[in-house]
Amino acid sequence: MKNLVNQTISKAKLPIGVFDSGVGGFTVAREIASQLPQESIIYFGDTLRCPYGPRSLSEVAIYVEEIAAWLSREQVKLIVIACNSATAAGLEIAQRSFDVPVIGVIEPGARAAVQATQSRRVGVIGTVATIESGAYTRSIRGLDAGITVFSAATPRFVEMVEQGLRLDRNPIEDLMAQTASIYIRPAFQEIARDYLNPLRRCHIDTLVLGCTHYPLLMPLIRSVMGSGVQIISSAEETARDVADALRRRGQLEDASEIACYRFATTAKEPQEFVALGSAIFQRPIDNLTIVTLDELAKLRR
Ligand code: DGL
Repeated sequence: MKNLVNQTISKAKLPIGVFDSGVGGFTVAREIASQLPQESIIYFGDTLRCPYGPRSLSEVAIYVEEIAAWLSREQVKLIVIACNSATAAGLEIAQRSFDVPVIGVIEPGARAAVQATQSRRVGVIGTVATIESGAYTRSIRGLDAGITVFSAATPRFVEMVEQGLRLDRNPIEDLMAQTASIYIRPAFQEIARDYLNPLRRCHIDTLVLGCTHYPLLMPLIRSVMGSGVQIISSAEETARDVADALRRRGQLEDASEIACYRFATTAKEPQEFVALGSAIFQRPIDNLTIVTLDELAKLRR
């Protein structure tokens, strides 16, 4: 019994592992850090292989296994797949392969949408991989089979997020607070209208942002969809799931502890990962490891 208590206490000290194809998952890591400020985090961005969205699910599933193995080797107590494409491709495999809990972003987003909709007409936007996997439709209809789901792949939104950041000449401090001035510009509005008008015509009352890059486009998407449509980002709900999973296992870090944040990327030149990541995460990225693809390939099971 004493041993079990000791093990639980020492597990609580371990960090949470969070990963994405690049910087999009920082929208989720930021929410975890805000809801659980005492928890340490290791964030992994697979920047060299970003974007995942146009790749096949079987290819992305291999990346999920590699990165989850790398995080397990770093002794994380829980893994968050902070990428919808990677969740669609590899959540189940990762949950079967690793002995720590693995949480994805699709189920939390689906749950939030089911709770939000009144008309039971829900829209979902995401990368080609996520939308073609059908994972959101299954997840939403698994919770309420009476909901009609309208999905649209909006792949250019990922490049728009990153392009907008490069276009913005002003120093970016809190990126999430500055997104209206960065993204509400005519060229982006035109693309957003092309993607979103068909969904507007379906009379949805709830729209799920099925990609962790998209919360940065919230004001732009809201300006096209209008105030009658609730926009759901899974970040908050995912962070709540992380808190619940750790609480149930007695693995929440003591509230008096100071969190430590570490970062890893596959980028060969990580300047952009550091600049964009720290603007989204709102904390400096100064504890960074560069991981090679060879190193990851050796971790395949
Ligand atoms: N952040 C990823 C997601 O949530 C999208 C970016 C990519 O295509 O890699 O799906």
